[in-house]
Amino acid sequence: MKIQAIRGVKDILPGEIEKWHWVENKANQIFSRYGFKEIRLPIFEKTKLFSRGLGETTDIVEKEMYTFDDRGSEKITLRPEGTASVVRAFIEHNMYTSQTVHKLYYLGPMFRYERPQAGRLRQFYQIGVEVMGTHDPSIDAEVMIMLMEFFNSLGLNQFELQINSLGCDKCRPQYEETLKQAIVNHLPNLCENCNKRYKKNPLRVLDCKVKRDMEITLCLPKITDHICSKCKIHFEEVNSLLKEIEIPYSINPKLVRGLDYYTHTAFEVTSCKLGAQNAICGGGRYNTLVEQFDGPTTPCFGFALGLERLISLIQFDNINNVYKNPDVFVVSLGEKAKSISFNLVHRLRSGGLSVERDYDGSSIKSQMRKANKSESRFALIIGENEIKSGKYQLKNMQDGTQSNITADYCVEEIKSLISNHAIEL
Ligand code: HAM
Repeated sequence: MKIQAIRGVKDILPGEIEKWHWVENKANQIFSRYGFKEIRLPIFEKTKLFSRGLGETTDIVEKEMYTFDDRGSEKITLRPEGTASVVRAFIEHNMYTSQTVHKLYYLGPMFRYERPQAGRLRQFYQIGVEVMGTHDPSIDAEVMIMLMEFFNSLGLNQFELQINSLGCDKCRPQYEETLKQAIVNHLPNLCENCNKRYKKNPLRVLDCKVKRDMEITLCLPKITDHICSKCKIHFEEVNSLLKEIEIPYSINPKLVRGLDYYTHTAFEVTSCKLGAQNAICGGGRYNTLVEQFDGPTTPCFGFALGLERLISLIQFDNINNVYKNPDVFVVSLGEKAKSISFNLVHRLRSGGLSVERDYDGSSIKSQMRKANKSESRFALIIGENEIKSGKYQLKNMQDGTQSNITADYCVEEIKSLISNHAIEL
């Protein structure tokens, strides 16, 4: 019986995973220079964390969550995103008591039951960052600047940063009322989904991807014209800081994001090279989520980027293989040599060398072919004669030269050859 992976999930095989490691290392390096520390979170949580945190009328909560009852009849959901879990952990571990500002980042799989297509998976990976504990608009700008530095370090150039302000819990309800009234006039021409959702969540209408709706929504009132003076000042400061560092961006008053927790700044990075699923990254400020889960007032700002989409955009010409090729490939001839080589391989590895060997008892020719294919630096050859004389043959696979080395000291001799070579380089 042949069992295949579930639709919308992907294996990441050797050959591909090196790209992931490279990107993840860059993220670790750059994010830690900005003061971020990693947090590892569970991949499943109580369902109400997401249904309450992300918003009951969001697409994710309405139709995309992988939710099930566990054996104790608890409602569990495979995380569709990381922000709600960070907030939960932040409160659960009283992190707010230790210092005022926390900068956290995470990496891992997320799960959304969406219709699979190019760039849209049911299990996909995100790298996300969250700054917890400051209102300061300079953190909004700083996090976006860090993201741009990260993208530049990956050699990414065709992308666009769009920002918007979604107001606060004081000015947004008024805007939503204005928007609702404006939408009513267009209802007969808007799609069924918008007709259903506009009453409870009119902002979603601005985000509709139906072409005709997109044209109609262009003429609806813009949130940036309706935010309060405090929100305006915050947004202007973010704009001016981005300009100061010469970050290219545009303001998109229709950018509302697909999650309900956002307040003030929201942003997205898209790439025209991605096709229909063009968002590489999205994020923004969420000043009320921690309080919503009974934590203290904690203004936050963060983003998450889709690793599959990001990696598909990177040119990987210059990456060296992150996996080390073997230092030594042990070639053995005959039963006795094979049994000696088992112990020898152990000694070589314990001595710090990276070692490969043949497992199939193949011919010398075939073992040498394998040594060659493994791109090993040396082949260490042991046959009956070598066992008798106590001298093994060592072949340098780069220049083809061959020498004898003493069986008892072969670990030290090979290591010294490698370190001499390293000095020459
Ligand atoms: P999001 O916009 O839902 O935001 O997801 C962030 C990124 O995850 C997207 O821009 C996209 O690259 C990737 N992504 C989302 N869904 C899929 C999918 N089905 N297949 C492949 N990639 C996907 C969030 O998740 C928020 N938690 C971001 C955030 C953090 N906001 C504040 N802090």
